[in-house]
Amino acid sequence: MISGRTGILGVIGHPVSHSGSPAMHNAALESTGLDYVYVAFTVPPEGAEGVGDAMRALNIRGLNVTVPHKQTVISCLDEVSPEAQAIGAVNTIDHRDGRLYGHNTDAYGLVASLREEGGLQRLPAKVALLGAGGAARAILYALLAAEEVEHVALLNRTIARAESLAMDLNAGSRVTVQPLAETTALADAGLVINSTSIGMEPDAEASPLGDGAGLHDGMVVVDIVYKPLETRLLQQARVAGARTVDGLGMLVHQGARAFELWTGVAPPVDVMRNALTQLN
Ligand SMILES: NC(=O)c1ccc[n+]([C@@H]2O[C@H](COP(=O)([O-])OP(=O)(O)OC[C@H]3O[C@@H](n4cnc5c(N)ncnc54)[C@H](OP(=O)(O)O)[C@@H]3O)[C@@H](O)[C@H]2O)c1
Repeated sequence: MISGRTGILGVIGHPVSHSGSPAMHNAALESTGLDYVYVAFTVPPEGAEGVGDAMRALNIRGLNVTVPHKQTVISCLDEVSPEAQAIGAVNTIDHRDGRLYGHNTDAYGLVASLREEGGLQRLPAKVALLGAGGAARAILYALLAAEEVEHVALLNRTIARAESLAMDLNAGSRVTVQPLAETTALADAGLVINSTSIGMEPDAEASPLGDGAGLHDGMVVVDIVYKPLETRLLQQARVAGARTVDGLGMLVHQGARAFELWTGVAPPVDVMRNALTQLN
């Protein structure tokens, strides 16, 4: 029941009407009995600078931040976590005691998904990461933060973009940049993560690995694309005998971490996952 005391949470983006976050977070709020409502705010690119003032003026308790605001919103925050600073992007704002704190929960979301859906308590020594866009920044940060990861092959269509990502994260010799079409690194990879948008609707028949050559039964294959959940890459991986993890896990766990930051309450992860599954 919304009342005069109900707190406001939400997501800003452009576009944002397709976001599953309102369904996921409102289901979590209902199940925990917390007096908040979570809504989507369409904020055009030029509006990001006003987000801090809006949060203060309207007493908005917390926001998720999605494309295209993850970098631009940083300038209106009071503090940014070391993790979000290193990744160069904020996806969660916590408005606490009059101050705005920026966090990035995507890296946590990926690692939690690898652990829970992928059965990986420790990550493999050799990893292949496909893509060097916004999502890849948080993923590469998470991989480099795991001491057991010795080497990451970073495969991208645009080599310069992958090189600058590796440099931004001070990857040194732990990361080797290769063209997306060069898949020899898959041979000894124990984990392959697709962070390109290849395979996303409406082009759901495409795979970042073409015909899937190089996939094998000694690897876990993660596709962070979540529309569709069952991507062409995951079909290829299953045929090759690999364990597969879809993009729902990362989405749920990044949201769960944001929920915990705002409310201090343990997130009902299964409720959040079910809410998203029903949308798909
Ligand atoms: N599950 C989750 O929680 C989660 C979180 C974030 C994002 N995602 C999903 O991850 C995907 C990527 O998101 P993003 O924000 O990182 O996007 P982005 O910043 O636009 O990056 C897109 C990436 O895909 C590559 N790419 C796109 N089209 C290509 C093509 N035709 N051929 C070869 N490479 C191509 C780009 O390569 P170039 O550098 O060469 O352009 C780049 O590496 C999206 O599907 C998004 O929905 C999922």
